[in-house]
Amino acid sequence: MNSHDSLTLLRKRGSGQSKAVQSGSNLHCKRGERRMLDQASVLREVANHSSHAMNAIGVADCQPVAIAITSGKGGVGKSNVVANLAISLAGLGKSVMILDADFGLANIDLLFGIAPRHNLRDFVFGRTSLEDIIVEVPGGVKIIPASSGIEQMAALTSEQQLRLIRGLSQLGTLTDYLLIDTAAGISGNVVQFLLAAGIVIVVTAPEPTAIVDAYLVIKILAHRESQKRVSILVNSVSGRDEALSVFEQINAVSRRFLSKPVELLGFIERDSHVTQAVRQQAPWVTMFPGSTASRSVNRLAKRLHQQCEAMKHQKDMSLSWRALFEQDIPS
Ligand SMILES: Nc1ncnc2c1ncn2[C@@H]1O[C@H](COP(=O)(O)OP(=O)(O)OP(=O)(O)O)[C@@H](O)[C@H]1O
Ligand SMILES: [Mg+2]
Repeated sequence: MNSHDSLTLLRKRGSGQSKAVQSGSNLHCKRGERRMLDQASVLREVANHSSHAMNAIGVADCQPVAIAITSGKGGVGKSNVVANLAISLAGLGKSVMILDADFGLANIDLLFGIAPRHNLRDFVFGRTSLEDIIVEVPGGVKIIPASSGIEQMAALTSEQQLRLIRGLSQLGTLTDYLLIDTAAGISGNVVQFLLAAGIVIVVTAPEPTAIVDAYLVIKILAHRESQKRVSILVNSVSGRDEALSVFEQINAVSRRFLSKPVELLGFIERDSHVTQAVRQQAPWVTMFPGSTASRSVNRLAKRLHQQCEAMKHQKDMSLSWRALFEQDIPS
């Protein structure tokens, strides 16, 4: 909180410039030699997106666009954004899967009013198939419920990692978008999911603490992978002016100290329909389709879909296994 750039964000003044460390990973596919692959080498090869290794374990070529939705500060509306954005994207005719990756305080299921019998842990530990844990909710969205028993993706055994890769990779043929609801903050697991996703959406509220914490997430990402596409979504605002003011504060500091401009994906107004729907455990975009928040999230879904369609031709936006299972994530 008291680092120079964070203070600048609040005071809107300051000096100095730090360069983002270029540690971007090369995720482009490369053709491997034909050879026998044992489990560990399959993992290594898959991690590098070797097409030979991908074929060896039956990974479909077409993988969903992976979008991680995150925040620095907790309670700014990530899970609400994920749940309702998923339904809006499904309304555009896209198939959408939510991965609840908040392994501590999972609550996507609560927002849909469901009580899943199994979760990701059951699948990773070989107790159920992936189909058995996936829940389909009204609106056509599928959910992979979170597990409170997975502390670190990197701590999974290679057998468990392979199981996860195989399982999630099969989704490629079924799913256009994989929306990943992360925990708040910058724990190792969260950073791994952000690095692994094709796009990161940082949600912030207009409060100074949320703004500073959003910037800190962007800063960590910029130092880990400077090319990562990061968009800001300002939630619970009074309107466009407030959203623009919050975005400009973050963008100015990010440009100045990280040499990295960020983008504004959009905003969602503070809307009492949101709280009403949350209490009734139903998505507001379905329950109150004409509400201000619902109209905004529908706009966001269209914009996001257009951006993804444009970007898909330029880069791979699927989940990067290498980033997900990498060990050396700083705390
Ligand atoms: N646009 C909004 N208008 C009014 N209230 C909102 C809005 N967005 C979120 N909220 C309120 O904020 C609460 C927290 O939202 P949510 O659980 O989605 O946040 P979160 O960022 O996922 O939290 P956590 O960090 O704990 O995972 C909701 O229960 C809802 O009441
Ligand atoms: Mg949440």
